[in-house]
Amino acid sequence: MVNIIASQFFIYFFFIPAIASAADTITANQSLSGDQTIISSDEHFELGFFRPGNSSNYYIGIWYTKVSTVPPTVVWVANRETPISDRFSSELKIIDGNLVLLNESKTQIWSTNMSSTTRPASVVLGDDGNLVLRYGSISSPPIWQSFDHPTHTFLPGGKLRYDKRTNTSQVLTSWRNAEDPGMGLFSLELDHNNKQFLIKWNRSVEYWTSGSWNDQDKLFSLVPEMRMNYIYNFSYVDNENESYFTYSLYNPLIISRFIIDFSGQTKQLSWLDSFGQWNLFWSQPKDLCDVYGGCGAFGVCNQQMLPSCNCLTGFEPRSPSDWNLGGFFGGCVRKTELSCSGKTEKPMFILSYVEKSFLSSFPENEALQIDETECRSSCLDYCICNAYTFISNICRHWYSENMNKISLVLFSNESNLDKIYIKVSSSDHHKSNAKVLVAGIISGCLGLVFLCSIGVIYYRRMISRDRGVLNEEDRKGLDVPFFEFKRILSATENFSLANKLGQGGFGPVYKGTFPGGAEMAVKRLSSQSGQGLKEFKNEVLLIAKLQHRNLVRLLGYSMKNQEMILLYEYMPNKSLDRFIFDRTLCINLDWALRFDIIMGIARGLLYLHQDSRLRIIHRDLKASNVLLDEDMNPKISDFGLAKIVKGRDTEASTTRVIGTYGYMAPEYALNGFFSVKSDVYSFGVIVLEIISGKRNTGYYQNQQAFSLVSYAWGLWKEKKPLDLLDSALAESCNSIEVLRCMIIGLLCVQEDPEDRPTMTNVLLMMGMDIESLPDPKEPAFVSKARSHSSPSYVNESEINQLTVTQQEGR
Ligand SMILES: *[C@@H]1O[C@H](CO)[C@@H](O)[C@H](O)[C@H]1NC(C)=O
Ligand SMILES: *[C@@H]1O[C@H](CO)[C@@H](O)[C@H](O)[C@H]1NC(C)=O
Ligand SMILES: *[C@@H]1O[C@H](CO)[C@@H](O)[C@H](O)[C@H]1NC(C)=O
Ligand SMILES: *[C@@H]1O[C@H](CO)[C@@H](O)[C@H](O)[C@H]1NC(C)=O
Ligand SMILES: *[C@@H]1O[C@H](CO)[C@@H](O)[C@H](O)[C@H]1NC(C)=O
Ligand SMILES: *[C@@H]1O[C@H](CO)[C@@H](O)[C@H](O)[C@H]1NC(C)=O
Ligand SMILES: *[C@@H]1O[C@H](CO)[C@@H](O)[C@H](O)[C@H]1NC(C)=O
Ligand SMILES: *[C@@H]1O[C@H](CO)[C@@H](O)[C@H](O)[C@H]1NC(C)=O
Ligand SMILES: *[C@@H]1O[C@H](CO)[C@@H](O)[C@H](O)[C@H]1NC(C)=O
Repeated sequence: MVNIIASQFFIYFFFIPAIASAADTITANQSLSGDQTIISSDEHFELGFFRPGNSSNYYIGIWYTKVSTVPPTVVWVANRETPISDRFSSELKIIDGNLVLLNESKTQIWSTNMSSTTRPASVVLGDDGNLVLRYGSISSPPIWQSFDHPTHTFLPGGKLRYDKRTNTSQVLTSWRNAEDPGMGLFSLELDHNNKQFLIKWNRSVEYWTSGSWNDQDKLFSLVPEMRMNYIYNFSYVDNENESYFTYSLYNPLIISRFIIDFSGQTKQLSWLDSFGQWNLFWSQPKDLCDVYGGCGAFGVCNQQMLPSCNCLTGFEPRSPSDWNLGGFFGGCVRKTELSCSGKTEKPMFILSYVEKSFLSSFPENEALQIDETECRSSCLDYCICNAYTFISNICRHWYSENMNKISLVLFSNESNLDKIYIKVSSSDHHKSNAKVLVAGIISGCLGLVFLCSIGVIYYRRMISRDRGVLNEEDRKGLDVPFFEFKRILSATENFSLANKLGQGGFGPVYKGTFPGGAEMAVKRLSSQSGQGLKEFKNEVLLIAKLQHRNLVRLLGYSMKNQEMILLYEYMPNKSLDRFIFDRTLCINLDWALRFDIIMGIARGLLYLHQDSRLRIIHRDLKASNVLLDEDMNPKISDFGLAKIVKGRDTEASTTRVIGTYGYMAPEYALNGFFSVKSDVYSFGVIVLEIISGKRNTGYYQNQQAFSLVSYAWGLWKEKKPLDLLDSALAESCNSIEVLRCMIIGLLCVQEDPEDRPTMTNVLLMMGMDIESLPDPKEPAFVSKARSHSSPSYVNESEINQLTVTQQEGR
């Protein structure tokens, strides 16, 4: 008793009114100010005043202690709308049973807003990042918790909830920009009736939906990336009182968070300690330019550029400071206000184009039965008319209000687009024309432009002169020919959709037909890298030197400003996934053919890893990257591209997407470590897919297995391996060969990269007796709850830069 009193006395004597530095609790009569913080007991989270970036405003927030970003990565903000400027004279404390923030003049500017009480209250920062207010003892139920009032982050263990008793829902709302945690325009809300999430613009316009929750597959139907469910345990609960979505991590060592970004995208990120950066697992909508009004009024979105938003000619950012911090939603305003008096020069019109369906989504615009001349002149005269359209002999005027939503005006000649004439001041009209022309001549501008909101790709062709390509000397070192850009345009009919073969991780691929009938696959590389001509040349040079019958051959290249183009041999049978996962096409692949394909992929990979003069780690090997020629010989594609297309995240570290889910080795998916053994893992997955005809990621029939790998492992343990076999192979199979391939496949997907064979060993084992093959150990991701410790094997020189590829929706 004496001891207790003494220790209390000690605490009060030394720490009133401040807080012990390492505490996780704020109790009555304690307060927090200045640089004081409280830290959760496991030291993962910290609460205190923070300043986002270079902002002069301070906020109370919770951030990760172990994430070494500058500024810290904040997961929750208390006073997001009411910053303070002097943290030393502001106080966070408990008053009348509420946690409150007092500003410099001791005015309450934020509170937990519960009804006041005289009961003793305390606030504890939990190990999950949840700040909990309780009355009485630590075991009493929470009165208020930060998880119920999320800002832009949804942490593991949190719930995004709709409360049926109060008809209220928790909403994640984006920050305004990188340095302002105030409420942005984008929010993520639960639509509990349809068990789905919606992203809304200004709490009103829905521009993305997750699709309904699928209880069997444990994912939202339009977010296939959630199949990464060997890392996340997602669940959706719907009962009489509430409806909520929650998730947790099987491995508690992984640091992962889900946010709605001020760009209007949701992102699942995890912390890669070895790289010191956040790694993007997936984002939705995938394209920045699919975000509704993402660039704001009179803004144009271009995914390929940094920043991705630009103002229409004649317009400038409404708030340049927001704009520079990535907060584009404020949009653009006229450089020169339109004069309404009519005395000065008349405004003029800039012709732009938008997708047909977009314009028709504004039925509120009154249709006027007047001719085009009158349509134009009345818009000129009518001060608040911002633009007009004249479509199918119907004139519509566009006023200020609905103009707010047009952040997607574009320039194009494509036939599925409608014309819209934007009114600008004549001085801006002259200036902007001159500017466009100059830029055009200098850069020979051909940019791939994505539209805000509708994500339509179109091409802006200002000028056709070919500049900025490699000079004669540059070309000499190359073994493959340079193609004039003009030839590529005509071979692909201006990259027409009809000629599009697919969307690879590094950009779209088109079929090009050249004079004389030669066919090639034309790959446009996304050009966010900011990589120079010289580097591109060097990389092409390297790839051109890689020649193997199981690699797709590079036939030529081209470039135009920011755009880099590689020409490959055309594969009429397209890719392996097209055959093995299709119930009708797979009949064409009997076992002998499949075995040859496995051998071919193995040889191609061995060449990349070992036999070529360069050592290439593919990093994104998957069935859709294995192409088949007319004789069904497999050829690996996209090798070496990871070297060419580098991250576009020199400034923002949150844009990386790694590999392709389902094919990623655990050490890569979880820690970002990459080596030849990670390619071996992907190879193992392909082998199992070829045997079974099932996708690793699409495997849910069996409740015990949540991936093909774990299913195959289960069959192996149960000593009925041949059950894995694709039923289409029942007749043609050679069971010894199948068994051998299955064992090798399982050896390749073992958890520890050290245990996996090299490609040389794989080829050796292909010729060995089954009895002499080693016994596979348990693959990665089989026992869900098992913790995946970081492998210690990784040789520094093998940790290469991460691949940046986009997940292909399936
Ligand atoms: C807090 O301080 C007030 C007076 O300053 C005192 O009456 C009260 O008992 C204290 N509360 C606790 C929990 O120590
Ligand atoms: C803060 O400002 C400095 C100097 O102006 C700049 O170098 C730095 O990048 C800025 N930091 C952030 C997070 O914007
Ligand atoms: C504190 O907040 C009140 C209410 O918002 C405001 O009127 C006052 O100016 C603030 N004090 C300071 C020093 O900013
Ligand atoms: C608390 O309530 C007041 C008035 O009802 C409201 O203005 C304020 O936003 C609320 N604060 C929080 C943190 O909910
Ligand atoms: C919630 O909404 C339901 C259906 O719209 C309604 O019947 C109910 O009265 C509402 N409850 C409250 C507390 O507003
Ligand atoms: C968002 O909606 C509110 C009303 O709901 C409106 O006042 C505001 O202007 C809208 N913001 C924008 C940028 O359109
Ligand atoms: C997954 O989450 C649910 C709900 O939170 C929980 O009941 C279940 O035990 C978790 N599964 C595993 C394997 O951790
Ligand atoms: C719903 O709330 C009522 C009253 O609070 C409670 O008795 C009941 O158990 C709750 N139902 C569920 C499924 O949690
Ligand atoms: C659109 O096509 C017309 C002729 O069809 C041409 O004169 C004009 O330059 C083209 N505009 C653009 C932006 O390419």
